[in-house]
Formats: sequence, structure tokens, C-alpha cells
Amino acid sequence: MMHNVCRRCIAAKLRIRPILHTASYTSNDGSTCSLKNRFVDSGKASNSFCQRTHSCGELTSSHIDHAVTLYGWIQHKRFNFMMTLKDAYGVTQVVIPQNKDKIHKELTSKLSSIRTESVVKVTGKVQPRPPGQINQKMPTGEVEVLAEDIELLNECKEDLPYQPKDFRKVKENLRMQYRYLDLRTSKMQENLRLRSQLVMKMREFLCNKHGFVEVETPTLFRKTPGGAKEFVVPTNRPGKFYSLPQSPQQFKQLLMVGGIDRYFQFARCYRDEGSRPDRQPEFTQVDLELSFVDKEDVCNLVEDMIEYSWPEWKGELTLPFPRMTYHEALTKFGTDKPDTRFGMHLHNVSDIFQNSGFQIFEDILNSGDGTVQAIHIPQAMTHLRTRDYEVIQDTAKSKHRSKHGVIVIKVKDHLTWQSPASKFINNDAKERLSEELKLQPGDVIILAAGKHEESCLLLGSLRLEVATLLESKGVQLRDPDSNAFLWVEDFPLFLYKEDGVSLESAHHPFTAPHPEDADAIYTSPDKVRGLHYDLVFNGAEIAGGSIRIHDAKLQRYVLDDILKENSITLSHLLEALESGAPPHGGIAIGFDRYVAMLCNASSIRDVIAFPKSFEGNDLMSGAPAEITNEDLQDYHVKIIHK
Ligand code: AMO
Repeated sequence: MMHNVCRRCIAAKLRIRPILHTASYTSNDGSTCSLKNRFVDSGKASNSFCQRTHSCGELTSSHIDHAVTLYGWIQHKRFNFMMTLKDAYGVTQVVIPQNKDKIHKELTSKLSSIRTESVVKVTGKVQPRPPGQINQKMPTGEVEVLAEDIELLNECKEDLPYQPKDFRKVKENLRMQYRYLDLRTSKMQENLRLRSQLVMKMREFLCNKHGFVEVETPTLFRKTPGGAKEFVVPTNRPGKFYSLPQSPQQFKQLLMVGGIDRYFQFARCYRDEGSRPDRQPEFTQVDLELSFVDKEDVCNLVEDMIEYSWPEWKGELTLPFPRMTYHEALTKFGTDKPDTRFGMHLHNVSDIFQNSGFQIFEDILNSGDGTVQAIHIPQAMTHLRTRDYEVIQDTAKSKHRSKHGVIVIKVKDHLTWQSPASKFINNDAKERLSEELKLQPGDVIILAAGKHEESCLLLGSLRLEVATLLESKGVQLRDPDSNAFLWVEDFPLFLYKEDGVSLESAHHPFTAPHPEDADAIYTSPDKVRGLHYDLVFNGAEIAGGSIRIHDAKLQRYVLDDILKENSITLSHLLEALESGAPPHGGIAIGFDRYVAMLCNASSIRDVIAFPKSFEGNDLMSGAPAEITNEDLQDYHVKIIHK
């Protein structure tokens, strides 16, 4: 839906160009360091309120003959008369005069005794590098500092667990244990600086341009029904515990009842769920809530905020983002967060297998809600090897309950197919499948049969696995430079629990039903769609939100009658809804995930200064840690070893 006044025109007028620029340099130790996330003026601006005259990243030929004072870490030493000095902004080459005088001797002996990664102050004069030593890839590569003094400020110990060099591959556990060393690498520096810049741009967009109010909400809260497992905090009152909030969901709705109108917060959220590359037990959301909005308003606002804070070097951003229903996402991509950068879509080939002669599939199809789905991988036989087919089968077995459910077929020639199942499939079915999928010799098909949703989800994960396998062999399917954003909408409001009878919220119990399905909530709630929306970026769910229920009666009905939850624990919210609650809605952007996607980081841990390990531990401090018996008594807590 477009607004009466074209919001793109307004956005274009409001838009301030992102100030992120691209550059890269090769440092003297040979490592290449991309400066793409750095800010053009950061080197100069950062010299206020400190003792240096310049940062290590800003000297150029325009500074020749300037007297300078630099501070930094010794990155690399060569022959005891040359070193590279690094700080947060870059690297500068420093040389000791070669005239063999007293200063030369003093400085040479000093430098030889100082270990790399020690912190030093260098005073000297900028001079051009000798011909042949100019490094065009390095912002400071035309010059060097001729040292007049080198002062050791703090010696680095001898046995560092590892040298924090950009080119050096270090095990992640070690990086996390000595995070302060890891933070010295240019990758971590860039990621955290980009993160900070995004925070600033988003704040500016929300507060200055659109009248949002930043409100901090409590992180000591009470246990609430549904959702992820919460962390509990013991208190010194017997039997009383706080819970850390999974998100500020209830508070932001209460702020709307309180007339705040437009709320946002960079909110800390806590969920006691397994750590994965895209999950952390504590993480940050850009949490938003607005009164008097519909779904389009919220989606448009988020699109404009992303555009406003978009790093220019990330390439083109096309607005508005495409929309897809949950149903289409599931049936075409086998997931609710489709990576639309490549094809290999799912095809429903149930019709073809109905009379295919292949009994196992026919039985599944006749069993009720069974379907047969296919993905077609053009020319995969050239790339995939026996081990790859085994990986595909292993994944299928671990994810699919029926051991006969997945079949991989290699298309050798028109009807000559290689697969243990192929001899059972009649030629008519083969012809039809060949025509439907436009098969060519060398192609591979993966078939999955089973309950509709299960087989779609399974093929969805195999689609991604095959893409990763093919990419590891040099076939480029997903363009790392493309920015495929997508809204997924029309989710079911409720899903059946494992027992197949009781319902649970697909997202959270505060999501409003789709107005077209409003009556069905009292008759067939499992058919009702919710006013929920997810934002997907290159196959990752980076945000989720909804229009909320603002009618207390409906909210009570959902909690008591549909979800069979104890609404007493939510009586504060229900009472608030009875006290003049405006219609409202909002969204939360998973900020760590979004930044990780922008940085092309393989894990959100790479955009968090002090993340938790896979098992939820802080490897640096050893948290979570045991507490003393006295403390346990104070908190009225008894340890039971299971
Ligand atoms: P939801 O639970 O979908 O919605 O969370 C919103 C976004 O937060 C990110 N996210 C996570 N990031 C890192 N680690 C985690 N453990 C983790 N869990 C979620 C995801 C997700 O899209 N209160 C609602 C929002 C609303 O309705 O307004 C909520 O929290 O990117």
C-alpha cells in the first residue's frame, strides 16, 4: 500500500548520505586490512582530548616535515631500526635515523629490547618513504616517521597466548578467552565501529527525524508465560525470583498506554536457549513501538530507517522491500526466512507420484496430509562427489523421521536415472517429472515425501546445505554483495503443539488477528492469520513485530481460552488495556544479527565485544561461576545435582 504522499520522496528529502567509505590498505606485515567501515574523519576527530598530535592512520605526504607525536602498539619490528605502529585508526611506519650517531644507537638498542604489542609513544618528523618503499594500498603508505624518541609506556609480556595479527587464524575459544587481544585486530575494530555508527544513525533517525522517545525499561522483571526459557535471578526474599526479560514487549505496550506515542530502545534481551552462530543468551534489539499505526506504517518506518543508516559501501538498497506470505515462503523455499538470492525452489510433485508405481511415495500420499516435494539442482553431478551425497543423506536422516522420505536422483540421461529408487518409478512419472523440472543430463533431483510442512522444511534445509556444498566447490550461487531484503507476512497466529491438540502462539500472545480472520478466532483459531511481520535479510530473520491486541477482552480470551495460560501473571497488562489503550504496533530488529549480516560475519559473536561461547560461557572471566555457601544461604538457594 502506498501512502497518499509519496513517502519515498519525503525520504529522499530527509536522507543524509551515509558517511561510511571504502578503502583498503596492506600493512607492513603483509596483512590486508579493509577500511570499508571506517569513517573518513575519524582519524582527525579522534585527536582531541588526548596527547597525540595524529593517529596512526592519518599521516600522508601533506604532513611531510611536520613534527608529530604518535601513540600505539608495536605491530611489527624489522632489523631493530624499523617498526610499524598501530592504533585504532591504522598503521604508520616508523624508522630510526641511520646516521650511526648517539640517538641512532640509543633508539636501536631501545627498540631491540621492546617486545611487539608493547605500548609506546613516538615523537619524530614525517618524511617521504624512500623510492621503492611507497605502499599505495596503505593510507599512510607514502610517508614514514623519522623517530626522535621512542618511549616505552607499557611492556607487553613475553608469553602472549597469541599475536593479534589480522592474517593469523586463531581458534575462536582462544579469541574469546583473550578478547582484549582479539579486539586489537582490524576486523573486530571495524565491526564494533560500524555497530556504533549504526546506533548513532538509527538514534538520529528515530529521535531527530521522527519524534521517538528513548526509554529504558527494567531488566529485573517477573516470569511471564510462553516464549523462550528465561534466566531467573534469586533474591534475598525466600522463594522470590526475578526473571530477565526476553524482550521489553510488555513494557513497550504499557508505554503506549501511558501516552508515550513513539518509543524506542537499544534493549538488552535475555533468552536461555542454545547458543548458535546467530543466537546469544544476551543480545540487543532495536526495539520500537508506535501508537495509531497499521502494519504498513511499521514496515515503511523500518525500511526508511535501514535506508537512512545504510552503509554506502554495502551496495544498492532497493526499496520498498518485497513481500511474501508465510505460505509462499514455506512452499517455495521450505522456510519462513527465505534466501531469495538463488533459485532451486521447491516443487510440489505429489500429482506426478500419485500413480508412479513407487509404492513408498504412493503410501505417503494416500496417508492424509502427505506430499512429495522436489528440488532440482542443475548440473550438480559435475561438482558433487560421493561424500557430498552422503552429507545430504545424513542431514536428511537427522532431520526427517521417515527413513525412506528422501531420495537423491542423478539424471544421467533423459530417462536413465541413477538412484536405488529409480527402478521403481515408472517411465510415465519420469517423463512428467522431467518435463515439469526441465531436467537435463548431469542434473540432480532431491525428493522428499512426508507430511506437507515437514517435507517442505526438510527440503528447505537441504536447499541451503546443497548451496553451501556447491559454493565450497567454487560455484557461486549467493552473491555476497547482493542485499536481498524481504518481508514475510500472513503467518498463522497459532500453531499446534507437539501433542497435535493444544495451540501456542506462533510469535507471542499479544499479536492481533488479521482483520479478515477476526471472527474465526472464536470458531477455528488454527485457521487465523496474525498481523505479524518478519524482516529477512539474505536468508536471516533480522526483525519481527506485529500489530498488537489492544482490546482487553480479546487479549483475555486469547490467553485463557485459546492458549490456556495463567492470565493472572499478566493482569497488569490486561488492566492497562482496560484503561484506555491506543491501537498500537511495533517491531524489534535483532541488532547483533543485522550488524553481523552487514559485516559478512559468520557469527554474531564477531560483532559483540564480549560474547558468550557456544555453551553460554564467558571464557574470559569464567562466568557463570559458582557462588559460596554463604551466598547460597543468603539467596535461599539449594544446589541439587541431577
Ligand atoms: P523476536 O523474538 O522475533 O520478537 O525477536 C526479534 C529479533 O531479535 C533477534 N533475536 C536474537 N538475536 C540474537 N540472539 C537471540 N537469542 C535472539 N532471539 C531473537 C532476531 C529476531 O528477529 N518482542 C518481540 C518483537 C515485537 O513483537 O515487537 C520479539 O522479541 O533477529
